Amino acid sequence: MLNTPRILTPLPGPESEKIIKRDTGVSSPSLIKEYPLVIKRAEGMFIEDLDGNTFLDFMAGIAVTSTGHCHPLVINAIQKQSQDLLHICGTDFYYPAYTDLCKKLQSLAPGNKDWKVFLSNSGAEAVDGAIKLARFHTKREHILAFEGAFHGRTYGALSLTDSKPVQKNGFGPFLPGVYHVPFGLRADEIVALIKKSGLELESFAAIFVEPILGEGGYIIPPDEFLPQLREVCNEYGVLLVADEIQSGVGRTGKFLAVEHWGVIPDIITLAKGLGSGMPIGAILGTDEVMSWPPGSHGSTFGGNPVSCAASLATLALVENELMDNARKMGPYLLRRLSKLETKYKCVKNIRGKGLMIAMDLYQDDQPSHDAAYQFEQKCFQEGLLVLGCGEYSVRLTPPLIVQKSQIDIAVDIMETVLDGLSDE
Ligand SMILES: Cc1ncc(COP(=O)(O)O)c(C=O)c1O
Repeated sequence: MLNTPRILTPLPGPESEKIIKRDTGVSSPSLIKEYPLVIKRAEGMFIEDLDGNTFLDFMAGIAVTSTGHCHPLVINAIQKQSQDLLHICGTDFYYPAYTDLCKKLQSLAPGNKDWKVFLSNSGAEAVDGAIKLARFHTKREHILAFEGAFHGRTYGALSLTDSKPVQKNGFGPFLPGVYHVPFGLRADEIVALIKKSGLELESFAAIFVEPILGEGGYIIPPDEFLPQLREVCNEYGVLLVADEIQSGVGRTGKFLAVEHWGVIPDIITLAKGLGSGMPIGAILGTDEVMSWPPGSHGSTFGGNPVSCAASLATLALVENELMDNARKMGPYLLRRLSKLETKYKCVKNIRGKGLMIAMDLYQDDQPSHDAAYQFEQKCFQEGLLVLGCGEYSVRLTPPLIVQKSQIDIAVDIMETVLDGLSDE
């Protein structure tokens, strides 16, 4: 495969066009399809479409392909495992890959705690399980989440989600007992808001928080935010649940984003980058918290052997080299982007930790959804894949293998796009 972006046809090309036509009226219209990319294959940092166009990937399938596309060690682990065992159900039986992955996650989780692990198929399923666990352990009903949060689309997770109206409109009623407060608020303000609503913090089972707001706009909270949440949770016996589904598994240069603030949650949810593209999620709970009895929670496919094998290979790479790479490449990307902010009036608020980076797009001195959308679409036309987030932001989440030369190519493409946008 090529190691540079190359656009040979108008986009979408004729072969891609055929699939898009065939798909229309077949797949659910709820699917967004950000741009008309029809993928044939992918390798490392690059994606090839059906017409032979090659794209540089700075979105990683929404922060999923942490080791790059089809990493040989991940493929090898999948192939080996799939020759031995495809399925047996981890709820009912034992197999080494399940146990090994739980042990690995236990060793990577922060603090001197004995963590226990439940494996799921997806992020939303991990969040739903975490809601159940928090209620079960505390015997309390209420859950606090944050405005702008995204926790997934199943009913439990969706009840906590507060990102885009379209994600919830028409789907109510939701889980009772869920409350939202602004993200990044001071702890005393949160406590005051809850009391003002006539509620007692002692009735809350958990506070669910994305350490860095993901889908909601890659918002990094003030430094005191997470430590203060930890203190509030300690004071009122509430569990702190870190939804690290987007920010975890080395994406920010540490295994979990909460580690940037030295905070240890009671429950952690993971998915996305955990399997490098294979479906797998996890709930980690401290020994004390994860004490539900046999039969109280389970899953047919969760922790499927092949996904576990992919995840073990992924975690070895993340631990040994990729977290380190994210720590080096993140600041390099931020430095290169800061030059764009100086050069173009429409680029503002470049921010990020590790390789979880975003910037805001402006038009006529106002943050602009349309400018962010145009930027994303034009990057695609130029062979660079990025994704929007929040109202007017564009996120940059390349696979954690990204190299300086690829960052240079990406930023050059962004410059070409911004030149075009400034001319319009
Ligand atoms: C922070 C966070 N939580 C939960 C989810 C839901 O994960 P999934 O799409 O695997 O259900 C996502 C997905 O984007 C996410 O970013």
